[in-house]
Amino acid sequence: MVTRVKPYAESAAPYVPERPTLEKVRAAATGCKACWLWTLGTQTVFGEGPRQADVMFVGEQPGDQEDKAGRPFVGPAGKLLDRALDEAGIDRTTVYVTNAVKHFKWERGERSTRRIHKKPNDAEIRACRPWLDSEIALVRPRVIITLGATASQALLGKQFRVTKDRGKPIASPLAEAIFATVHPSAVLRAPDAAARALAEKELIADLTKVARYLRARSRQAAPRGARATATRSERRVTKIPGGRAGSRELPMAARGRR
Ligand code: URA
Repeated sequence: MVTRVKPYAESAAPYVPERPTLEKVRAAATGCKACWLWTLGTQTVFGEGPRQADVMFVGEQPGDQEDKAGRPFVGPAGKLLDRALDEAGIDRTTVYVTNAVKHFKWERGERSTRRIHKKPNDAEIRACRPWLDSEIALVRPRVIITLGATASQALLGKQFRVTKDRGKPIASPLAEAIFATVHPSAVLRAPDAAARALAEKELIADLTKVARYLRARSRQAAPRGARATATRSERRVTKIPGGRAGSRELPMAARGRR
């Protein structure tokens, strides 16, 4: 009988330091070999942004430019995200940006030397999840914004559809609310200029709803005497039936810290 030895741990959990801080977790992630993607990427691309950010963006995985730079959302999708944030009135320097998967998955194009993005599969997303859970537990964002289907389904469950429930605050144990929207790369891939302009407008509209939600919630939390002017729809949080992906336990040591 041949015993098959699994070459990878299948989860980054053993790599996560026992008493995590963002700096320690980032350093530990540089040596992650929990799945085979470390053999493809140039380096681990960990999240970045203020440790006490109110807003955390979660994308799918680093792209070609992010892989080379070692920083998330610095390529074309990141530039579009910067513009959309600006239009929505959210200061980019105050948000934390990261990805569901921390290595670039790609394949060589048939007729070119370009590295073509390949969608990560469920096992790769699962293997990488302890890094994302650690980032969420340590940053403790008020709002998480998932960009595209991969990140949205990772945090809200496989049945989640961005097209159906985008731009709404969704109840989650991971944050006050999760908002899902399209991935900026999908905007860039729109078939023509008109479709692209519309997709960008809709992305900005979703981010504007997040900005409004944050303002409304801050007003609710304002000291006595201050006027609470949030509307009911600004306060409403949607529950996704069967949503389970966000209910996993966060690392104990990281909980409650900011
Ligand atoms: N797309 C992503 O999902 N993340 C990045 O960091 C860049 C592009």
